[in-house]
Order: sequence, then C-alpha cells, then structure tokens
Amino acid sequence: MVFDKKLPSVGRLQRRIRLSGEGSAKDVHLISIAGNSTYESGDWLAIFPQNPPNQVERLAKLLTGADCDQLSRNFTILSVHRRLAQWIFENVARKDARDQLGEWLSGDFTTLARGYVVADVLEQFASLPLAAEDLLANLKPLQPRLYSIASAPEVNSNTIELIVASALYKGPTGKYYEGAASSFLNKYLPIGGEVRINVTKTHFKLSADPQMDVIFIGPGTGIAPFRGFLQHRNFLLSRNIQLGRCWLFFGDQHRATDYILEEELAIYQKAGALSRLELAFSRDQDHKIYVQDRIWENCDEIWQWIVGGAHIYVCGTAMPMARDVSDTFVRIANTCGNLSEEGAKNYMQTLQKSRRYLQDIY
Ligand SMILES: Cc1cc2nc3c(=O)[nH]c(=O)nc-3n(C[C@H](O)[C@H](O)[C@H](O)COP(=O)(O)OP(=O)(O)OC[C@H]3O[C@@H](n4cnc5c(N)ncnc54)[C@H](O)[C@@H]3O)c2cc1C
Ligand SMILES: NC(=O)c1ccc[n+]([C@@H]2O[C@H](COP(=O)([O-])OP(=O)(O)OC[C@H]3O[C@@H](n4cnc5c(N)ncnc54)[C@H](OP(=O)(O)O)[C@@H]3O)[C@@H](O)[C@H]2O)c1
Repeated sequence: MVFDKKLPSVGRLQRRIRLSGEGSAKDVHLISIAGNSTYESGDWLAIFPQNPPNQVERLAKLLTGADCDQLSRNFTILSVHRRLAQWIFENVARKDARDQLGEWLSGDFTTLARGYVVADVLEQFASLPLAAEDLLANLKPLQPRLYSIASAPEVNSNTIELIVASALYKGPTGKYYEGAASSFLNKYLPIGGEVRINVTKTHFKLSADPQMDVIFIGPGTGIAPFRGFLQHRNFLLSRNIQLGRCWLFFGDQHRATDYILEEELAIYQKAGALSRLELAFSRDQDHKIYVQDRIWENCDEIWQWIVGGAHIYVCGTAMPMARDVSDTFVRIANTCGNLSEEGAKNYMQTLQKSRRYLQDIY
C-alpha cells in the first residue's frame, strides 16, 4: 500500500445518503467527497478521521491542560496498547488497581484490553487527573483508514464516493462505542466540512480489454468498488464501446432493509453494463445463505465463464468471507473442471498470479 501520510489533500463532504433501510441492524451510508484528487475506480481512499466528540470530551475531563482539538485529530484514543498500560502501571496506577493492571500486563494483554478505550483504562487504573502532556506522550498517533472507492471519475471527476458501514461495538461497561472514521464520515462530519484524504493506487483494476467477461463478488460494503466499475462500464457503453459480460454476486442480512443500491443496479442491468445479478440475503430464512452458495448453485456456468477467460474480483471482509469464496472456486475447479484437489488449488493460484482472480479485502 503506497500512500503518503504527509501529503493528504483536503476534500469536503458533499452528500451523505443513508443506504440501509429503516429497521436494519446496519448503518451504511453513501459518502460523496468533493476534491481535486485524481483516481481510477478500484483505488482506495485514505481518510484521516477525527475521534468521536463524546469520547474526546470524556477523556479531556480526566486530564489537566487537554486540548480537545488535538485529542480529536492526532491521537488513538479508541484502543489501548501495551506500552500505554505499562506506562500507567509504572507511573500513575492507583494502589488498589495495580494488581489487576499487573495481571493484564502478564496475561493475554490483547484479549484483556479488547474493547477498552483510553478513558476506560484511566478510570479503572489511574490516579486522576493526569497532566495531558504526560498521557499524550504515551498515545499512538491516529491512523488513516482505507475505503474502497465506490465511484468512477468518468461520471464526476471532482467527486469521490464511498460506501461506509458504521462500526459499533460493545465496550467493557456494556455501552456501545463508535469507530473513529466510520462515525466521522457517517455521522459527525457536517455537510461542507473538511476531510483530509489521500488516494491510494491499487492493482484492483478492470482488465484493459473491456470485452473480457467479469465476475464481481461483493457482499456488504464489498459492493463498493463494483459500483465504480459498473459506472465505468456504463460510461463505455455510452461511447458505444462493446463490453464483455458482467455477473455480480451481492448479499447482506435482509432484502427488505439491506438491499443497498437496488435501484442503481436495476439501471445498470437495463443498460447492459450488468448482465446478471445473484443475491444472497443471509437472514431471510432459517439457514444462512451466502454469496458462495449462489456461486456454487451456478457452478457449471461459472466454470464455463472461467474457461472462457473471465476475470474474477472479490471485495469485502477477508475472514471468513473471502477465504470461503476462494474455497468455493477451488471446489468448482475440482468438481466442474475435473481437476484433482491439488490441481484445483494450483489452478486458482495461477489465476491469482496472472491477476485473473483479484481481491480487495479487509
Ligand atoms: C483496503 C480496505 C478497504 C476498505 N474498504 C471499506 C469500505 O469500502 N467500506 C467500509 O465500511 N469499510 C472499509 N474498510 C474498513 C475501514 O478501513 C475501517 O476499518 C472501518 O470503517 C472501521 O474503522 P473505524 O475507524 O470506524 O473504527 P476504529 O476506530 O478502527 O475502531 C475502534 C477500535 O475499536 C476496536 N474494535 C473494533 N471492533 C471491535 C469489536 N467488535 N469489539 C471490540 N473492539 C472493537 C478496535 O480496537 C479499534 O481500534 C476497508 C479496509 C481496508 C483495509
Ligand atoms: N459492529 C457493527 O455494528 C458492524 C456493523 C457493520 C459492519 N461491521 C463490520 O464491518 C465490516 C464490513 O461489514 P460489511 O457491512 O461489509 O459486511 P458484513 O457485515 O461482513 O456482512 C455482509 C454479508 O456477508 C455475510 N457473511 C458473513 N460471513 C460470511 C461468509 N463467511 N461468507 C460469505 N458471506 C458472509 C453476512 O451474513 P451474516 O452477518 O448474516 O452472517 C452478510 O449477509 C465487517 O468486519 C463487520 O464486522 C460491524
């Protein structure tokens, strides 16, 4: 991954549209950022986030001399690393809490500290208040987060769009905590507000030959780069360029609330940019149905596409989704392609090496 953290450019939030329907367990938004960055569909956008205001204020109250703007922009406050816990233990731990913190440090620290934010550990273990400068010297810098770009520059060269799912997890006290970048984009950044961004080039690109067949697999937010690719294909069609076929596998929890981009996909289908669409809604029946189940149901045809030279693209969570999808393709090569188990694995590896099986996974 190559992005220069020192040289982010400034974008502005132009539009935020909630894609998840009412009653969804998820909170997914289409985020449009206006700026001058040059990009291609398939690239990533690094977002330099700000911490959620409630967590910044909570932490500032435990400190003397805190600068909220600095806490918001520059420091990791939503997770706790070992060096910080060690510093608390050695310098500012309360007597009654030292033993428990010592157990954390001598035990499986990562597991014990999972879900804790910096304010939680200070409240639990430290003599308060602390001088802000002492604490800040022991916090990690706030890192940019990557998002798969969900637009094509041919549609609007001054806008980059993302599809962002809000991260929300239960902290140790039972309260829900928001992730920094997803809450910044989906909730706190006002329309017109500034966001520091950086385009990161990737190899997740459509084949230079538009007549090549393509298979897209993107459940959940994994659909993001395929929206960009479909916009690109639609643009090529508008220039009368002939295209190969395109088969998209998408899924999420419930059709009624999580079928994001339904209307847009119908437009691409009507125009011919999208030839086939297979849907897998995992929680609409008493057993889970995932994208790889739909791939397997169509295994003979999928194999024919692969033999015919189709390029395969997978985007979304690495574990377990992308692994299970990859295993399904091995199974298809084994069953429909009549290859031995080892031969099927080798075949898939060859597809990966020759960039006919590309993954954008996280
Ligand atoms: C190449 C790439 C492309 C990506 N594309 C997209 C995309 O298109 N759309 C998208 O929505 N996301 C995408 N992501 C994920 C995205 O980068 C962020 O990781 C995601 O939005 C969460 O970031 P956050 O800042 O909101 O949460 P964070 O601030 O990173 O989370 C806060 C802290 O919470 C803790 N935490 C998180 N989850 C839990 C949990 N379940 N239990 C306990 N503690 C937890 C962790 O310690 C973490 O440090 C992509 C990632 C990569 C690497
Ligand atoms: N904590 C939160 O509130 C929250 C909210 C949104 C996203 N996230 C996290 O953000 C990341 C991206 O989320 P996302 O919205 O892109 O998608 P996602 O939440 O990972 O799910 C998208 C779809 O993929 C299904 N799925 C689960 N396991 C699978 C597998 N092994 N193979 C194929 N499909 C599988 C899901 O089904 P099931 O869920 O029914 O199993 C769902 O239908 C994930 O890491 C997710 O955990 C967290």
